[in-house]
Amino acid sequence: MAKDTTGRLHVTVKSGGKRKLSSKLWLERQLNDPYVTQAKRDGFRSRAAYKLQEIDDKHRFLKRGQVVVDLGAAPGGWSQIAAKRVGSAEGKDNGRGKVVAIDLLEMPELPGVTFAQMDFLDEHAPDKLRAMIGGGADVVMSDMAANTTGHRKTDQLRIIGLVENAAAFACEILNPGGTFLAKVFQSGAEADLLAQLKRDFATVKHVKPAASRQDSSERYVLALGFRGTNTASA
Ligand SMILES: C[S@@+](CC[C@H](N)C(=O)[O-])C[C@H]1O[C@@H](n2cnc3c(N)ncnc32)[C@H](O)[C@@H]1O
Repeated sequence: MAKDTTGRLHVTVKSGGKRKLSSKLWLERQLNDPYVTQAKRDGFRSRAAYKLQEIDDKHRFLKRGQVVVDLGAAPGGWSQIAAKRVGSAEGKDNGRGKVVAIDLLEMPELPGVTFAQMDFLDEHAPDKLRAMIGGGADVVMSDMAANTTGHRKTDQLRIIGLVENAAAFACEILNPGGTFLAKVFQSGAEADLLAQLKRDFATVKHVKPAASRQDSSERYVLALGFRGTNTASA
């Protein structure tokens, strides 16, 4: 085991045998990632929890008693942070909020989180979600990431398709003043989406939390202060 430039121990995984180079690199990255170690220590399901924690520490949109929708929630790091901050993870009922989460994958139960396994792009998903939410929402957040095909144009279209659908759903369901947070990638393909969000929200910005790997093009769009009126609670 050697030390890296910051003085931390660096684990190297042997290649060869049945292990492919990509698995070796993935394993090495996991083993040497301080957020992965910290997540285990703090009892979070994923290192992604720190991304939401950091974005909310700075912009303070998750508040006690709110209704939050988590799209692409598995394994559950963001839901854990949201449930803690809105109060739904607590046992008592006074003023506690609600977290509604979905994912393509199964997600083991989390206190204060109502989960359903479904494809957000399925035509029936918005209706099912509306029924789970049972009114308007205060925050719609999406960390959804489509599996990549390796074909750049196709991958960009898939990513932007997910974000656009999430934004359209947010505009249907958000209460006035609500927040939309979604993963985008630095592709330049989302100009139309940003223009639309700027019409519907008071503030729109890109954020890249420290927990988001610096070598990845991942970033988030954060839209605060929904100006519209939802149709869900009307
Ligand atoms: C980066 S992970 C989310 C991590 C999560 N925020 C956390 O904190 O643990 C992205 C998730 O998006 C989900 N996903 C991708 N496309 C989806 C879709 N069409 N519908 C629902 N979930 C989707 C994937 O299954 C995956 O679990």
